[in-house]
Amino acid sequence: MPATMTRSARPLRVLYAASEAWPLIKTGGLGDVAHALPNALHTLGADLRLVLPAYREVLRQVEDLQILGWLDLGDGSEARIVQAWHPAFEMPLWLVDIGELFDREGNPYVDPDGHDWPDNPQRFTRFSRAVALLGVDTLETGWRPDIVHANDWQTGPVAAFLHEMPQAPRSLYTIHNIAYDGQFDHATFEALHLPARWWSIDGAEFHGRFSPMKAGLMFSDRINTVSPTYAREIQTPEHGYGYAGILQHLRHKLSGILNGIDTRVWDPANDPHIAANYDCDSDLEEVRHLNRKALLEALGAEPQAAAARAPVIGFVGRLVHQKGIDLLIEAIPKLVRQTTVRFAIVGSGERRYQARLEQLRQRLPARVFCYIGYSEPLAHQLEAGADIFAMPSRYEPCGLNQLYSLRYGTPPVVRRTGGLADTVEHASPRALADGSATGFVFDAPTAPALAQALRQALRTRQDPVLWRQLQCAGMQRPLGWEQSARRYLELYRTILQDKRP
Ligand code: ADP
Ligand code: GLC
Repeated sequence: MPATMTRSARPLRVLYAASEAWPLIKTGGLGDVAHALPNALHTLGADLRLVLPAYREVLRQVEDLQILGWLDLGDGSEARIVQAWHPAFEMPLWLVDIGELFDREGNPYVDPDGHDWPDNPQRFTRFSRAVALLGVDTLETGWRPDIVHANDWQTGPVAAFLHEMPQAPRSLYTIHNIAYDGQFDHATFEALHLPARWWSIDGAEFHGRFSPMKAGLMFSDRINTVSPTYAREIQTPEHGYGYAGILQHLRHKLSGILNGIDTRVWDPANDPHIAANYDCDSDLEEVRHLNRKALLEALGAEPQAAAARAPVIGFVGRLVHQKGIDLLIEAIPKLVRQTTVRFAIVGSGERRYQARLEQLRQRLPARVFCYIGYSEPLAHQLEAGADIFAMPSRYEPCGLNQLYSLRYGTPPVVRRTGGLADTVEHASPRALADGSATGFVFDAPTAPALAQALRQALRTRQDPVLWRQLQCAGMQRPLGWEQSARRYLELYRTILQDKRP
């Protein structure tokens, strides 16, 4: 029986729930995954519905809206469920429409000042309850999933709600980042009318607070995370953010599956955002020159300065402690004194890092180019225009930017952690000799260790033959979703065969 078929020989049905999905709404890698993985599962024959909150931004972009009905959320509120389509998705979208919670401008999690929306507990517990009700086909649409697949704390309570329902479908919970757990206090828990028995050590109570993340961990049939190394790391105090003990206890149902990337969206041969398209057979030196020039001009450099051949080290990402942006900021002045290198940085996040980058840019205008903000086109231009990609994350569940860098022939310099350790092959003398090297990996989460790895990358780049080999090794790696999507199908099938607890 093919992996996508259930016993009754119909396609496996998956209700995939997430709080963001590119291109409708995205703040980070979860958005990329919630777009590409459901599509990859569809290609493999699964029958899916992707369920999202009906944010204003999402409603604005979807087509063919059809009301499926109204769900009673059991706490005096209701959710309208809208089915819709969008060309980027191969399956219908189910949108949980609760106007007072989701019909607002801006970021799905934080207000314009960067603080969590104060009603996030209401927003995401109600969303989770709606997902669970759709999981048992409360609206009698005739479509009932075999598996409900939830992601991160925003949908952590889904499995807990399913646990309350007779003959619920089975569940998988994917941790994309254990450090963001969405916890709230007891008064909020009571105000939300959640089942009192959830408030226990075997439930979702976590050090005197309610943890949606813990709800997902405790009540799901299986848990996975987005790389094998991160699956091990979160069982240690250093990376477990308080959940190490729980995860050790639950390790029988925990596994790691690497993320893939959408190789159609991230394809240097067809990328509409970049100045010069290319593949591994191109004159990489020359196309890089054109793309580097376009990138630096887009970041405000004068054309003559942008046309210089000095290498560029790039960074794209959230400006937060996790990403080690402070290590890069610390390493820049010394590297600027020692080499001709320039830096291109695209990111948004904590004010303190934004301010330090702005200072660096003012102090070193010929060497540091930044865009503080979120820009999809610039992210693509940076992957194609930088010579080396820096990703000094303190921890990284999987990481997508290093994968985009590999695909764009921009060797990544990464710290040996999580998915970075699992996806980048360090340029040791041996790996360079046998052609398996794809980037540079360093260990200590310090600026000197990062600077040393960046200097090694710059030295290696001086040998054009070796550098091209390194670039092509990354570009030719199979980075798409197919293999990992198959692993998800296998995991779903395992769950269906597991005995109910
Ligand atoms: P995380 O999910 O932890 O932020 P990932 O590497 O998995 O890290 O994914 C980050 C995604 O968000 C990538 O697609 C990256 O290009 C994108 N991204 C992050 N910051 C920005 C930004 N300022 N502008 C454009 N894209 C960004
Ligand atoms: C999280 C992680 C990142 C991962 C992404 C998608 O945001 O920080 O490492 O790639 O989720 O799974």
